[in-house]
Amino acid sequence: MRLTCKSESSQQTKDIGSKMSAFLDKGDTVLLSGELGGGKTTFISGIAKGLNSKQPVSSPSFTLINIYDCRKGGKPFAIVHCDLYRIDEINDISEIGLEDYIYNEDYITLIEWAGRLNEGILKDFLEIKFEYIIDEKEKSDFFTAENQNRKITFESKNEYWNKKLVLLKKSIKNCI
Ligand SMILES: Nc1ncnc2c1ncn2[C@@H]1O[C@H](COP(=O)(O)OP(=O)(O)O)[C@@H](O)[C@H]1O
Ligand SMILES: [Mg+2]
Repeated sequence: MRLTCKSESSQQTKDIGSKMSAFLDKGDTVLLSGELGGGKTTFISGIAKGLNSKQPVSSPSFTLINIYDCRKGGKPFAIVHCDLYRIDEINDISEIGLEDYIYNEDYITLIEWAGRLNEGILKDFLEIKFEYIIDEKEKSDFFTAENQNRKITFESKNEYWNKKLVLLKKSIKNCI
């Protein structure tokens, strides 16, 4: 199933992330892809807020993994926020311990730039793509993150995630 939403501000992207958090459960893995500045980290900050995390969300560029304590339905657990953008410069996947978190039922794992993972390591996941929407009239303008419009596309490949996307579609505006 594919669900496409438009976001017109970083606050809207956060709000969609926050709404989505209601449908995330421990053991879930979500991959966030798309251009730099597309809104992946912003979206994750919305998820963390929705899951009652008190810690600030920032790009784990140097550590590659940040862990945020969360709560859902009174039960504590953690979000693992991984950003693989700089993976080649730092170390390889096996060194950062990501495999200990993926599908570990104690965590929700959110991975930016997951395309840098070896194919096959991930079996069940939701993918979310972030793209800039460039207005035809503004096409010649310099293209920066200041451009507020983003297209957010959710792609599920099985019944487990399809059901969650159906619920998400009902809870947010600007979706097709
Ligand atoms: N609609 C939008 N959604 C998300 N971010 C937006 C939006 N409009 C502008 N921005 C800005 O774009 C940047 C997105 O950065 P970030 O979330 O770190 O992207 P990524 O993690 O994909 O590289 C932020 O500076 C944010 O304020
Ligand atoms: Mg980021």
